[in-house]
Amino acid sequence: MRIDVLTVFPEMVEHAASQSIVGRARRSGALDVRAWDLRDFTADRHRTTDDSPYGGGVGMVMKVEPIDAALRAIGATDDGGTRDAHVVLMSPQGQKLDQELVRVLASYGRIVLICGRYEGVDERVREHLVDREVSIGDYVLTGGELPALVLMDAVSRLVPGVLGKGESADDESFSEGLLEYPHYTRPEEYRGWRAPDVLLSGHHAEVATWRRRESLRRTLERRPDLLPGARLTAKDRADLKELGANEKLLDSLGEPSE
Ligand code: ADE
Repeated sequence: MRIDVLTVFPEMVEHAASQSIVGRARRSGALDVRAWDLRDFTADRHRTTDDSPYGGGVGMVMKVEPIDAALRAIGATDDGGTRDAHVVLMSPQGQKLDQELVRVLASYGRIVLICGRYEGVDERVREHLVDREVSIGDYVLTGGELPALVLMDAVSRLVPGVLGKGESADDESFSEGLLEYPHYTRPEEYRGWRAPDVLLSGHHAEVATWRRRESLRRTLERRPDLLPGARLTAKDRADLKELGANEKLLDSLGEPSE
């Protein structure tokens, strides 16, 4: 998969995307990440990417021309305006990122992430140049670079070949619509804090049953809002009832899946 990032801070993106699993995936060829400096697509002597707002007011607005020129230059849009990539504007006004949207974005062969800065971005970028706007949450950051890195990280781990065999993407939080079960590793006991005996027992079936129940317990305690959208078996429902789920919640669950 290819991910292009348009930014006025390419070093920030380049540095973060050269570390850890994303960095490894780039070196192996599973991911092609390119950070582009929007200043390289300006036509004036000062390499201006922002200007004061029409109508007055404080702050600066990112200009439309460098973004349009960059999209064409990197082959994301042709001269007729036809897009060859899925173009995303990072913005606090966008659709909130969740695992479902991550899956949708991971299904494209190429995405372009535009990082806004300053007070805002010229509205014509939204109107004519992007396919969607994405927010990483209801808080305002100083720019779209960190949100772009968050999105890239989440999308990358779903791209085939990015995670190793021991790092499976599907056994984890949200894949079944449930929170993850608790994890433990050596030592068996530390300062009197013991790991659960069942995990040391070597009984694979019992371990699996315990983990499923703990996932259900956690989700019920912390994120009951996730349960109506989760894939639950008849046994899961019975467990939830035993764990204290109320009737209203039990009634809101979909048909059991086996
Ligand atoms: N730019 C500034 N804040 C943001 C947010 N929460 N999500 C995406 N882009 C942003």
